[in-house]
Amino acid sequence: MTNRAVIAIDGPAGTGKSSVSRRVATALGANYIDTGAMYRVATLRVLRAGVDLDDAEAIDNATEGLTISVTNSPVKQIVLMDGEDVSAEIRGDDVTRAVSAVSAVPAVRTRLVQAQRDLAQSGLSVLEGRDIGTVVFPDAELKVFLTASPEARAQRRHDQNTAAGRDSEYATVLEDVIRRDHLDSTRSTSPLRMADDAVQVDTTDLGIEEVIAELVELARRRIHVN
Ligand code: DC
Repeated sequence: MTNRAVIAIDGPAGTGKSSVSRRVATALGANYIDTGAMYRVATLRVLRAGVDLDDAEAIDNATEGLTISVTNSPVKQIVLMDGEDVSAEIRGDDVTRAVSAVSAVPAVRTRLVQAQRDLAQSGLSVLEGRDIGTVVFPDAELKVFLTASPEARAQRRHDQNTAAGRDSEYATVLEDVIRRDHLDSTRSTSPLRMADDAVQVDTTDLGIEEVIAELVELARRRIHVN
C-alpha cells in the first residue's frame, strides 16, 4: 500500500481546467500541481537565452540544469525559475506563443515529467496538464479529461484577458486556440489525447460549480479521502 493518490486533470486550454483543478484540490485538501506552469518556466528560460524555437538541441541546452519550483497550494501559486519569482511573467503573451514549441522537445518533457512525479510522491495530489493520465501517471486513481468547443474556450480566454485589463480580440484568441490545439495534439512526443480510462466532461454548457461538484463526488467515491 502506498499513501500516494493522484487525480489527473487533462484537456486543452480554456476548458476551465485551472479553476476546476484548484477548486477540486481545495475541496479535497489535496496538493495542486500545475504542470503547464512548469512548461511555461522552461519556455521563459529559452526566450531569455534568445534561442531559435526551431532548434530542439539549443532548447534542450538552454533548459538543462534549470531549477523550477512551483508551490503546491491550490490557493496561492508561486512559481520560481532558478529562485526568481516569475509567476506573472510566465503568463505573458510571449511565453504563451512559444510554449508549444518548447514543450514539444522530448528532452524537456523527460525532465519535467520526472520533476512532476517527484512532486506527487506522497499524499493526495491533483495534477493539471495535457499528458498526466497518459504519460506522467498512467496509474492515476482518477483521470478526468475536460473538453469544450473552441468557441466557448476562446470566449473564456477573451473574457479573462478583458477582466485582467489585457488587450484582446475574440477572433485572434479563437485563432490561437485552434493553432495551439493543433500543435499540442499533433506533436510526436506525448500528444494531447484522452486516456482510455478517463472520465470525459464537456464543459461547454456546464457551469464551473457543476463541474467541480461532479469531480469532487467522483473522487470521494474512488479514493479514500476525508
Ligand atoms: O495549461 P497551460 O496553458 O498553462 O499550458 C501551457 C502549455 O504547456 C500548453 O500549450 C501545452 C504545454 N503543456 C504540455 O505540453 N504538457 C503538460 N502536461 C502541460 C502543459
